[in-house]
Amino acid sequence: MEIVIVPTPEDGGRIAADIVCGAIENGARTLGLATGSSPLHTYRELIKRHGESGVSFAAMSAYLLDEYVGLTPDQPQSYAHTIRTELVDHLDIDNARVFSPDGGAADPSEAARRYDAAIVDNGPIDVQILGIGLNGHIGFNEPSSSLTSRTRVKTLTERTRADNARFFADPADVPHHVITQGLGTISDAKHLVLIAEGARKAPAVRAAIEGPVSAFCPASVLQLHPHVTVVVDEAAAGELQLADFYRYTTEHKPAEQGY
Ligand code: F6R
Repeated sequence: MEIVIVPTPEDGGRIAADIVCGAIENGARTLGLATGSSPLHTYRELIKRHGESGVSFAAMSAYLLDEYVGLTPDQPQSYAHTIRTELVDHLDIDNARVFSPDGGAADPSEAARRYDAAIVDNGPIDVQILGIGLNGHIGFNEPSSSLTSRTRVKTLTERTRADNARFFADPADVPHHVITQGLGTISDAKHLVLIAEGARKAPAVRAAIEGPVSAFCPASVLQLHPHVTVVVDEAAAGELQLADFYRYTTEHKPAEQGY
């Protein structure tokens, strides 16, 4: 696991964009996308590089991590809609190849199985962007999620519902259920890139990186993956015991070693 501590969230966005663009240059064809605030600097940077440097996403497919049960892609709070307006509409990626779990399905569990099968059939995902919840979730794998879980329907904790209430007119409107890629599904991706910013995320970042591997902190599953880059700003790195060592290893990285 490589932990990159950067001065600002904007710097984090540039590092994560370097990873995505480098992977595309090296033949990557499938991206895994998170929604929420954490990847926004990365997405803005990708949009900028597409506009200014001509980085093309035309050959790419993308898979979202999760979707609310009961919301369809035409609803602004759905993650399918959010990723379209925040990223996809500003790139040359074909929207028909941007996939998300079918939150409007009559049988969400069956939709989750179908989505997982599609990722297995078309994967592996080359670069998976991740944020982290205050309780250590990735995707919407809340604490107690099996570390080998596949895409399925999960119940959100009250804390996560409260954290996400900012996107809804009324906090009561936040759905209770989601379809989320499982921790096993996420772990199938070749390169996991976790982005965290702000002091609020510091305890979760520490638990994920320096705590025990445990379903209590779902993001700790990253410790079992062979290729992980964690990009954190100084505030989110604030509780890391080995922060100086991480800075040292980034500074003294072998010249040929990419992220
Ligand atoms: C969203 C997702 C979640 C978020 C996490 C952090 O697709 O999978 O795990 O990444 O809840 O959310 P933000 O970035 O809004 O703090």
